[in-house]
Amino acid sequence: MNINVLFVCLGNICRSPMAEGIFNELISQKSLHDQITCDSAGTGNYHIGKLPDHRTIEVCNDNNITLTHRCRQLKKEDFDTFAYIIAMDNENLKKIKSLTESAAHDKKVFLMGDFGKIYKNLPVPDPYYGSKKDFEQVYLQLLDTCEGLLQHLLAKKEAY
Ligand code: 4NP
Repeated sequence: MNINVLFVCLGNICRSPMAEGIFNELISQKSLHDQITCDSAGTGNYHIGKLPDHRTIEVCNDNNITLTHRCRQLKKEDFDTFAYIIAMDNENLKKIKSLTESAAHDKKVFLMGDFGKIYKNLPVPDPYYGSKKDFEQVYLQLLDTCEGLLQHLLAKKEAY
């Protein structure tokens, strides 16, 4: 069984591609690529086709993660393709939920903070207008929440 996860932020150049890169790294460390896959998207359309922000790329490179994602906007079909659609903050969550057309789709939408261990129930702050330090802080928060998400998915799989 394959579980498909979509990380969503506003621009899809800072937080969600970083989450995608970190989660892919965790998946690959555990050789789970045939069981768990992920992608990222933005609710906005400002940067479609672009690589992530240079600070996102730098912080990921500093942690041996290479990003190749190209920015794309969230689309209706994503609600069928993905089992988990994970918003970085409440504004993203509201926007995503405004696009759902069924209770089944609604139930797929989560907040990244739902999976936090250290950063439990906290929004992932938008670092776009910040400094590299802010991106490094976001990296730590996403590492924690991605680890929690992977634990959650693995526990779910055991239950099947
Ligand atoms: P992200 O950050 O949602 O984490 O990708 C942003 C990137 C770009 C913009 C806003 C947030 N922007 O307004 O262009």
